[in-house]
Amino acid sequence: MRHFLKETDFSRAEVAEIFALARDLKRKRGQRLQLLAGQTWAMIFAKSSTRTRVSFEVAIHELGGNPLFLNTNDIQIGRGETIADTAKVLSRFVHGLIVRTYAQSDLEQLAAHGGLPVINALTDYLHPCQIYADAFTAAEHWAGPKGDLLASLKGRKIAFLGDTRFNMANSWILGASLFGMKVALAGPKGYEPGATVRSEAMKIGAEFDFTTDPYEAVAGADIVYTDVWTSMGQEKEAAARKRKLLPYQVNGKLFAAAKKDALFMHCLPAHAGEEVTQQVLDNPRCIIFDEAENRLHMQKAILAVLTRSSAP
Ligand code: CP
Ligand code: NVA
Repeated sequence: MRHFLKETDFSRAEVAEIFALARDLKRKRGQRLQLLAGQTWAMIFAKSSTRTRVSFEVAIHELGGNPLFLNTNDIQIGRGETIADTAKVLSRFVHGLIVRTYAQSDLEQLAAHGGLPVINALTDYLHPCQIYADAFTAAEHWAGPKGDLLASLKGRKIAFLGDTRFNMANSWILGASLFGMKVALAGPKGYEPGATVRSEAMKIGAEFDFTTDPYEAVAGADIVYTDVWTSMGQEKEAAARKRKLLPYQVNGKLFAAAKKDALFMHCLPAHAGEEVTQQVLDNPRCIIFDEAENRLHMQKAILAVLTRSSAP
């Protein structure tokens, strides 16, 4: 049984295939494909979502399947039914699970007990579907309609600014080397990458640079990337985070310190005036809405490769 819980659950060869498939499925958007015909996929979400929820629901529908959205407050897991029992029960009804939750270990438990494919739709630790779509979006930009997508990322530098201790930063730490990229992170003391991601990076030979100087991180960068300062679940820390993370705001001056043709990317939702200024969001090299659109095509490609690999 295959799962997509973290970036490295697919090999580099599979990533090349997933990217090619996403490009192909994007071109075929109008056609009704039947890759998930007769399948129902449950989407268990413990946090809010716009892009991930809608892109998965539309993707499953357009692949001929049926998405079943389950807010954790509405199912018994919200009243204490165990993750293991929930997984065992759902596996009697549906063909796969797409899960947005807090702890990565909850996701791992679902995968261990469910007997059906599980996809990570964001945890506190990682957001792998997002960075697959992000890397694909940059590759599409650089490779053009026919070029080799993965090859276009080779040696490219991404600078990640802000909260370098949470899901998006962790995903870039684990994902960049898979895509052939280099990652430099900049954030304040106390927000550096944590022990878990450091040891996981070491295991897979993924290297990254961390600095407290945002200008050092963006020097020579092909992509400048940021994320919200207050992630879901951190609302009580919002005021302190605003104070600490302000020097890492992506403004016109910082963006101009990257390569001349650098792209600005953000997983969204964005808070203009906090982690990024409106001026940068309005820059023609800001590709956030292509990034958001590509979530749809990427979800389809991930589903297609995962279900093919999960077939008995
Ligand atoms: N980028 C992203 O995952 O957005 P949502 O929280 O809206 O799904
Ligand atoms: N770091 C953000 C990402 C949202 C897509 C959060 O977890 O809220």
